[in-house]
This record gives sequence, C-alpha cells and structure tokens, in this order.
Amino acid sequence: MTTDNSSTGLEVRRDGSALPERFENPGLPPHRERMADVDPAADKKGERQVVALFGLSVLGTIGFLVAYFAFPPGESIASMRLSNLLLGLTLFLAMFSIGIAAVHWAKVLMSDHERQEPRHPQRQDAEVRAAAVATLEEGVADSGIARRGVLKGAVVTALALAPLSIAVPLIGEVGGDWNVSKFRHTVWRAGRRLARDPSGEPIKASEVTIGSVFHVIPEGLRDEEHWIEEKAKAVVLMVRLDPADLTEREERRDWSYDGIVAYSKICTHVGCPVALYEQQTHHLLCPCHQSTFDMANEARVVFGPASRPLPQLPITVDDEGYLVAQSDFNEPIGPSYWERLK
Ligand code: FES
Repeated sequence: MTTDNSSTGLEVRRDGSALPERFENPGLPPHRERMADVDPAADKKGERQVVALFGLSVLGTIGFLVAYFAFPPGESIASMRLSNLLLGLTLFLAMFSIGIAAVHWAKVLMSDHERQEPRHPQRQDAEVRAAAVATLEEGVADSGIARRGVLKGAVVTALALAPLSIAVPLIGEVGGDWNVSKFRHTVWRAGRRLARDPSGEPIKASEVTIGSVFHVIPEGLRDEEHWIEEKAKAVVLMVRLDPADLTEREERRDWSYDGIVAYSKICTHVGCPVALYEQQTHHLLCPCHQSTFDMANEARVVFGPASRPLPQLPITVDDEGYLVAQSDFNEPIGPSYWERLK
C-alpha cells in the first residue's frame, strides 16, 4: 500500500520510506526446450495430433450436414429432440475440434520463444511498420505451415468446410416461407375454451383462485394442422387478481373476467416465453433479458428492453362456466418485425 506525498511528489510506503524510482527488470525465465523442439519424432507426432483434430472437425461438419438432411425435425417432440441433439453434437465437434487443434498447434509446434519489446518509444513510422510486417512473416514461418503440407491441407479443409454448418441451413431458408402475415393471427377465436398446458383440460373460472398462475393453450390444439407452430404463437399466461387492483382502459374493461386476465406468453422483446410471476407486485418477468410487465396494468413494460406491452387475450366465460376467448389477440404477438407498424 502506498500514498502520494504531495509536498515532494514522491510515492512513499506507509512506514514513510520512499519507494525506489526504478525496479529491476526480472527478465524472462530461461527458455525450456519442448520435446518437439529437440526430437523430430515428437515433432511429427504433434503434427499428426493436430491433423487428427482438424480431421475430427471435418467429420463434425460432415456429420452436421448428414444430420441436417437425414434427420429433419418432424411433428413429434421426439423427432425435434433427436434433430436438435444431432445438430448440436456435430456442430460442437466441428467447432470445438478447430479450437483445440489451433491451441495444440500453437503449444506443440509453433515457436515458443518469448520476446520482449520496450514500451517506449513506439513511433508509428515506416520502420516500426516494417518491423511489424517482418514479425508477422516470422510468425507465419514459425507456424511451419509452408513446409508441413498435410497440416496445411488439414487446416484449409477444416476451415473451408466449417462455414457450411451455418451456410447450408441459411440457404435452406431461402426458398422458405417468409410470409410474416402468419404472425398476425393465432388459432384463438371467439368461444374457444382456455385449456391447461400441456394436459389440454379446459379451465373453469371458479378453479382460478386469486394469485394463481395458469399456463394456457387453446382447447383441442393438437387437432390443428402444424399444432406445434400454432402452440408457439398461441400460448398464454393467465392470472387472477383482485379486480380492485386492475387498471384497465375503458375500451378494455370487458377483456378480463372477474379479475382474471390473460396475456400472450411471448415476450415482445425477442420472443422468449415469459413465465416468472411475482404475486405481491403483480410483475411478470422475462428470464432472457429481464423485461418486466405489470399484469395489473395491461401488461405494460415497467423495466427492461421490451418496448411494447404483452398483447392481451380478451376472455369471458361460456354457459358452463368455462373460460373462453372473445376473439383472437387484437394485435400481432411477439417481437417487432419489419412489417409491423409499431
Ligand atoms: S426476450 Fe424477453 S426480455 Fe428479451
């Protein structure tokens, strides 16, 4: 711990003694040769290991492409899980192997001589730039890539193939369905009952006690075509509040039922499912980036990056006391997109 002695401008220790103006440069520790530096067999072995790691990356990329085309996600949850698992594992193998290969290459084969460079002066003149270029060229020479033909081929092949993991899925989307109007509507319609997710059991208003939270889907959802996609758009979070706590605009007074309110579960920031409800504050938190919505006040944003309230599903009850939708949402659900007005 030191303090500044303002009268002398010198730094002093707590005991009052002055710090030395200069410290001795301890220098670099003595260089220790590695096995690959002194033994050509070890050098060759290191090269083979690096080649094998790049080869693993190539296998990972090929595996990714096979998984992408041979195991596309189907309608069932099991097929989606299998597809995601295979894509994730093969992509991991492709990328991780490149990283490990690069690290191993640097540690085993590239020169490990440490250099010292004085900090001052550091003029950016032609001489310095020439030295920097020379250092870079030396680095290329040190990597040994020019004289190690197999290694060169392995690294070029691995790096050339790796982008396919990203490019192929993107190219596959070029001819895809980009009609964003499908985000404007969900399968909710007047009279459709609100049901528990995932059991699909319809919910009576009398079952919803104050403070309870229900994850809701439309009744009969599994009978819909592309029900997984439809579910992703139609999921709703429903809570019951004391009606006296609700703040509602006049035109929305009949969108809730006796304190029961239902809002889209798709965050208006970038679409994560919001699900963390805090009963005392009536706040609903999105776990992704902490956008917070006030369920007692039309799900307005009280914190975080979301720019719009959650869309509200107008609800009421039918003759048997089951909660039903009055209509679809009155605005597109989810985050903003390019054809959206606000
Ligand atoms: S997706 Fe909800 S806050 Fe970002």
